[in-house]
Amino acid sequence: MTAKLARPLEPAPVYDLAPPAEDFLSDVVRGLTARNKTLPCKYFYDEIGSRLFDRICELPEYYPTRTELSILHRNASEMGELLGPRCLVIEYGSGSSNKTRVLLDHLKDPAAYVPVEIAREHLEESARLLRHDYPQLEVHAVCADFTRPLRLPRISRPAARRVVYFPGSTIGNFTPEEARRLLERSASLCGAGGAMILGVDLKKEPRVLEDAYNDREGVTAAFNLNLLARINRELGTRFDTEAFWHHALYDPREGRIEMHLVSRKDQQVALDGHRVSFVEGESICTEYSYKYSIGDLHELARLAGFTIERSWIDDRKYFSVHYLVVPERRDDSRR
Ligand code: AVJ
Repeated sequence: MTAKLARPLEPAPVYDLAPPAEDFLSDVVRGLTARNKTLPCKYFYDEIGSRLFDRICELPEYYPTRTELSILHRNASEMGELLGPRCLVIEYGSGSSNKTRVLLDHLKDPAAYVPVEIAREHLEESARLLRHDYPQLEVHAVCADFTRPLRLPRISRPAARRVVYFPGSTIGNFTPEEARRLLERSASLCGAGGAMILGVDLKKEPRVLEDAYNDREGVTAAFNLNLLARINRELGTRFDTEAFWHHALYDPREGRIEMHLVSRKDQQVALDGHRVSFVEGESICTEYSYKYSIGDLHELARLAGFTIERSWIDDRKYFSVHYLVVPERRDDSRR
């Protein structure tokens, strides 16, 4: 055979660092065999789940997306000024990259854009659309879990600074301890002089918060229940999704929304050689969504090695976007 290995001329459109499928199985087994049943919220975002999430963002009760977008639109040119020219922009959990465009439109000559996203279909599609709409921009899509160590793809020209873009209040899905570690990682990924643009949902009246996670149309319920349907599809289980109901409540002591799937009856489900039993009313905790005060945030940033240099908040004080900087290391060699 004389055929040579075909070398692609273009770099692969997606760098695949996504965790293997066995991780899904073992995470589900671990979560459902624990005393207090849980499932990791990152698994909401298969193709169906990502679409349902996009619908959540349009719901009248779900204020975060709309509020954050208006903050971004109103302040993107100031953000562009603060970030400066030739940034390498790394976005965590880029989803459909809607919020990306607002920022990109105000950046001077960005060095490259690196969306990091676990939902592969969503990532591919949005990278394709971005490449089309921003032909000058170098886009390196990375399919990965951004909570894991991340190696940046090589970019073709030097960047003035690295910036992590983390909108959407996804930081709220992590416990304060996990959030600190994630920000710490992002500070070290950016290095001294690097920056972060972070979107964070704020503490407010519990009523407003609970309505946002209990929409009248039931889209959030469908989003939550899709997790069991996904487990059925991918792991061959037989969860009866009708035998669970969606429950979301605000815990003011912890400062977080908790989403649960509550069993309507005593039931058992086979899972990879295990038998998972539920008593009526027992729940699987599927998501935390922590809410922050501005004070909480300054503390979190400080612990992670950032300083908050600018914050933007809407009139109702529902949502906040922050410009965080990793301080240049002080020269300690001279005393
Ligand atoms: C994507 C984490 C911002 O916590 O509000 C929306 C996910 N869950 N409705 C949130 C979600 C239920 C969302 N974040």
